[in-house]
Amino acid sequence: MKINIISQNTEAKTIIFPLLDNEHLAENLSKIAKHVGLSAETLQQDFKAASKESLMLYGKIEGLEKVYLLGLGKTPKQNDFIKVFRSFFYNSKKKLPKNVGLKLKLASLESYTEFIVNGICLANYEVGVHKTEQKLTSNFFSEEGILEIQVAEDTLLQVENDAKIGQATAETQARIMALVDAPANFKYPQKLAEFAVEAGEKHGFDVKVFDEKQCIELGLHALLAVGRGSTENPARFVVMEYNNSSEKGKKIGLVGKGVTFDTGGISIKGSASMSYMKSDMGGAGAVLGTIELAAKLKLPVHLIGVIPATENCVDGNALKPSEVISSYSGKTIEVIDTDAEGRLILADGLSYMKKNFEPDVIIDLATLTGNCISALGYVAAGLLSNNDELADNLLNISQLTGEKLWRLPLWDDYKDMMNSDIADIKNLSSAPLAGAITAAKFLEIFIDGHTNWAHLDIAGLAFGDSEFAKMKSGTAYGVRLLTSYLRSINE
Ligand code: BES
Ligand code: MN
Ligand code: ZN
Repeated sequence: MKINIISQNTEAKTIIFPLLDNEHLAENLSKIAKHVGLSAETLQQDFKAASKESLMLYGKIEGLEKVYLLGLGKTPKQNDFIKVFRSFFYNSKKKLPKNVGLKLKLASLESYTEFIVNGICLANYEVGVHKTEQKLTSNFFSEEGILEIQVAEDTLLQVENDAKIGQATAETQARIMALVDAPANFKYPQKLAEFAVEAGEKHGFDVKVFDEKQCIELGLHALLAVGRGSTENPARFVVMEYNNSSEKGKKIGLVGKGVTFDTGGISIKGSASMSYMKSDMGGAGAVLGTIELAAKLKLPVHLIGVIPATENCVDGNALKPSEVISSYSGKTIEVIDTDAEGRLILADGLSYMKKNFEPDVIIDLATLTGNCISALGYVAAGLLSNNDELADNLLNISQLTGEKLWRLPLWDDYKDMMNSDIADIKNLSSAPLAGAITAAKFLEIFIDGHTNWAHLDIAGLAFGDSEFAKMKSGTAYGVRLLTSYLRSINE
């Protein structure tokens, strides 16, 4: 599907009018009424512009076949535009013709183009890639599809730019959703590495992949310990660097948990929803997507991405509870529970990041604890940070983008719960309480005194229920949040 931004009238015979529920609604509806052969009163009676409300009408003037009215509610925000347009285009994509016109001018919606286009493009994403039956394809979302967006003339250039950003964002988000949705036999550590290498080649950033042997040489002992139960799909350590910033620009380090499947290891999980654990690389997905998108948009930033990637599986050689392992930092860890594997591999990712790159900011993302879901549900990811300015910044951006965060404390009161009798630290708290916080207290040890760090526990957000699939599916949570953060620090 191609997007054309125009200021004259569209040639398309199918036209969509997005409308706000505000003081202009009646007037806007009376303008549309003539085109569909209805009285203004009838249209005003039948369409209230509530969020996601839609109404299809047949055109009654030359060259106009169909008109869709699409409600946006009263004061939609970024995420509401994305949701409404994704939902509408997802549900009508098989009915839409090749050429569709979208009138943003009528309700003066030009400044929301990025999010409108983002939602429209996301509607093209489908989870059923392994189905053998031929699906009915969409004319609109085909090579020949054209979306003509009509806007006020003086907004043309801005809208063109915003539409490109919205489309580029959706394309990367869809790639990350597909990666998160990929089953365990189609996605293992090497696949995450290949994703990074291909994106780096295409969009111009450096990627180094360390295989198991090189991980041993580097001393990534905690990552390797988790990987011991996976002889067929060994661990990988991926380091990416994209630098398009001036010398004074801040260096941002991103670390993402890349557990491609989490059985729990010897501390094995129940089988009920274990299949969902293919999504345990959602943090890695957010990091991969952010670097890809930053490079695609040529953002003026210096970004480092680190992904410790492994499965957490069961084997005769697998890591056992009680084992004391070493780590990249040299600190020893007593493994009480092999299902608390995310913090082990992040320990190596974080200390590698700190030691080798000394970034100004470190942000890690991980589907780390079920406890974070107990605290915040599926609405917001947990934010734990040792820096109030960074935390406030991220909270503000999360409100703006709708990829929500909520802060949890990182007080030292929780620190002792991770003390081990026999090693430097243990990987499971002595009390089954405050698990999202104690996990972060564990990670804090491995940032080695860095003073500008944020940990995002995205367990409830990376993979979730939606109207676009019957089961849970990937969300690409974090890509918009982090990209917006990067855009904001360089303004
Ligand atoms: N990957 C899980 C966390 C998770 C749970 C992510 C639900 C998404 C949805 C993590 O590795 C894990 O198993 N955490 C344990 C920690 C516990 C053993 C301390 C948990 O949350 O139960
Ligand atoms: Mn686990
Ligand atoms: Zn896990």
